[in-house]
Amino acid sequence: MTAAINPQDAWKQMAGVAAAELIKDGMVVGLGTGSTASFFVQALGLRIQQGLQIVGAVSSSQVTQTLAASLGIPLTDLDTHPELDMYVDGADEIDPKLCLIKGAGGALLREKIVASAAKRFVVVADPTKRVEQLGHHYPLPVEVVPLAITPVSRKIAQLGARVKLRQTGATPFITDNHNFILDCTFPQGISNPAELDAQLHRIVGLVETGLFINMASQAILGGPDGVQVFQ
Ligand code: 5RP
Repeated sequence: MTAAINPQDAWKQMAGVAAAELIKDGMVVGLGTGSTASFFVQALGLRIQQGLQIVGAVSSSQVTQTLAASLGIPLTDLDTHPELDMYVDGADEIDPKLCLIKGAGGALLREKIVASAAKRFVVVADPTKRVEQLGHHYPLPVEVVPLAITPVSRKIAQLGARVKLRQTGATPFITDNHNFILDCTFPQGISNPAELDAQLHRIVGLVETGLFINMASQAILGGPDGVQVFQ
């Protein structure tokens, strides 16, 4: 007997399956991280078992790497393939210009590296992720070198954010790159994502932000009325 999945997961799965249909023989593919990206990875694995022949896939996290390997997806890396044909990943928030907040899963740095190596970045999500303005539903995650966590927190707070160190129980959450994550809530939302991103990048010790601006070319949303594509 197959376990029933809740509607939101069903929508995420619809988006993941639709994105997997975009993958063609000979492509080098980037694999995102999170529950929606996992549905894409599973659908891609199924297509490969059915005969699709990709050159290889680059993972954006250890978790995704393990999942992809378990499904028989051929794995590669950015040294072997510095340019990818397509990157598919989820998002926490998607605004009308396809600017994103990402990083609730803590993989934002590798996600941004892999996404920036791709000719095309397709976001997969369910409709709850669409927002008019970023920053109202999810805090903005930023990845920070542990040594710099206190001064970086203070500088982000000076920009108007409430800043919280992400923790697993009583200990800081550690990223795949051995850094910490600060979750930053901007009470008024983020009116100018590019300006905020530039301000944050001027803080020494801050490695990367979860703002993905002008990177996604298309969003595929599964929902109650089927799959919708935004670009
Ligand atoms: C991980 C991410 C995820 O893509 C994002 O959190 C969306 O996750 P989900 O598909 O589980 O809702 O950015 O760092």
